Amino acid sequence: MAIPSGKVFPRKLKGSLPLATRAEGVWIFDDKGKRYLDASGGAVVVNLGHGRQEIAKAVHDQIMTLHYAHPTMFTTAPVEDLAQALARHTPPELSRFYFQTSGAEAVETAIKLARQIHLDNGRPQKSRLIARWGSYHGLTLGALAATGRTSFRVPYAPMFLDAHHIPPPYCLRCAWGLKHPACDLRCATALEEAIQNLGPATVSAFLAETVSGATIAAVPPPAGYWPRVREMCDRHQVLLIQDEVMCGLGRTGRWPASEHYGVVPDIVTLGKGLSGGTLALSAVGTLERHFAAIRDGGGVFMHGGTYSHHPVAAAAGLAAIGILEREGLVERVAEMGQFLGRLLKAPPGAGDRAPVAGPVRPGAHNLQSHGPGRR
Ligand SMILES: Cc1ncc(COP(=O)(O)O)c(C=O)c1O
Repeated sequence: MAIPSGKVFPRKLKGSLPLATRAEGVWIFDDKGKRYLDASGGAVVVNLGHGRQEIAKAVHDQIMTLHYAHPTMFTTAPVEDLAQALARHTPPELSRFYFQTSGAEAVETAIKLARQIHLDNGRPQKSRLIARWGSYHGLTLGALAATGRTSFRVPYAPMFLDAHHIPPPYCLRCAWGLKHPACDLRCATALEEAIQNLGPATVSAFLAETVSGATIAAVPPPAGYWPRVREMCDRHQVLLIQDEVMCGLGRTGRWPASEHYGVVPDIVTLGKGLSGGTLALSAVGTLERHFAAIRDGGGVFMHGGTYSHHPVAAAAGLAAIGILEREGLVERVAEMGQFLGRLLKAPPGAGDRAPVAGPVRPGAHNLQSHGPGRR
């Protein structure tokens, strides 16, 4: 086998990439035996470490039992169970889940779903999307139009759907040069202005990352931002889409990041760590009443795709959620997040030690014990 073969259209066009041959825990190894600490879990996706036996077994068993049944003709146990598992960790009213393969696809689904909800509630003029600068929602055309990262947008901007952007809640580099709380949440007021300027009757949804991720990096909004936004959306019948593809499923120490802020979105997008990075899997959650409006209205959401609601991907997701639950990893994230936060605010002192993980169950990946010894 010649590597590189010269036949791959790679993600990185110039220079060469090392050949990754295997991975274990937090380490990736190349063909020369060099190991790399996968500190970010790739694209913030390998949330459970590499080489999880439970996920491998679940995927194997599902392929051997039933690997595909057309999602308009059949439902399957892993898909039903995964929706049930997600519902355990989201607010009770957020109880319907639609499965896709990537974060971008979930975002596309959410944008279309918002429109469909309006159509089935007799609001056909609502089609416009408001999003934020300094955001990332994916690279497909709809998601990229919503994304507020200029360098990614410029080449394809002439092809975009009409999305309007407002500044993000980013206190360090406030677009108005103000300080919280004296600013009275000027960044939230920007949403009210955008809705008014576009015409409330025409605005379908506000799409934003609950905690900013890929573009301005791990930036939580100031206190009061999300409740204010929620109130504005309600007042103008604008659906709130929270993109939790990166920050959801425990990455912030809560299952949904929105829980930190006491708001429930109309639509939430999930992805990345949903399968622990093993198979392409994403989800879109929505409220029971929105689902019912579509089911009892036109009865159709014209969407889908060959790999939607895929039982093998769902089996991987279910196994990943099982690990998060059994090993108490979301609670562990909260604990370690506090610890890291303390260290970032003040230089480490003699007493600073990482909180020790609780008893590790068989197969669990313990940061202290896992991985090969130092070289
Ligand atoms: C918040 C958010 N939404 C959507 C996406 C797109 O996900 P994917 O790369 O799986 O299409 C990302 C990816 O980084 C993301 O961070």
